[in-house]
Amino acid sequence: GTSLFEQENAPSSLEAIAEGIVQCRRCPIGCNGTRAVMGEGPPDARLMIVGEQPGDTEERESRPFVGPAGQLLDKAMQEAGVERQSAYVTNAVKHFKFTPRGKRRLHQNPTAGEIDICRWWLDGERTLIKPKVILALGASGARGLLGRTPSIGKERGRAITQPDGTLVWLTAHPSYLLRLDGEAREREHGRFADDLAGLARVLA
Ligand code: URA
Repeated sequence: GTSLFEQENAPSSLEAIAEGIVQCRRCPIGCNGTRAVMGEGPPDARLMIVGEQPGDTEERESRPFVGPAGQLLDKAMQEAGVERQSAYVTNAVKHFKFTPRGKRRLHQNPTAGEIDICRWWLDGERTLIKPKVILALGASGARGLLGRTPSIGKERGRAITQPDGTLVWLTAHPSYLLRLDGEAREREHGRFADDLAGLARVLA
């Protein structure tokens, strides 16, 4: 293929991935001087959760989903009866892409090409963790997993079976929910809760 990793063997341990992402300069995000954020959770987790990329808080703490989006996710998972602690939580892209705005760092979406480059590391995590079910949060997480950008609206809330038997389950990104108000917010929170309830049934 055209992989930038052609000369390399797939990472043989999570430690190798953790070290590899710190060194990785294969895309512009990896070159921006921020901390890499490794996935976190039990190495034998049945559930893997894949977000887009670390946010401002995640970059500072070098841990996935510890900021506002992570808090929303934790609460919704608790309500659905799925324990966050039991899941391996990671991102499609391991560095934080942003534009400086005064003292703040404004999130920028990774491009499809950047997600595709970072898939090397996500695939490494999948191979080592071997989850039964993978929850994708938003279109970027889904692209990292599926290699295409799906319509979340059309494909959410049902299992997409992968060639290796893994079930991929799509839902909205919690950061998207945080940007909504009023009726749209209510509606989207409801859909998110429904998707997680479906996920809980698949895991049961
Ligand atoms: N949003 C993400 O997609 N991932 C994180 O780790 C935090 C926020």
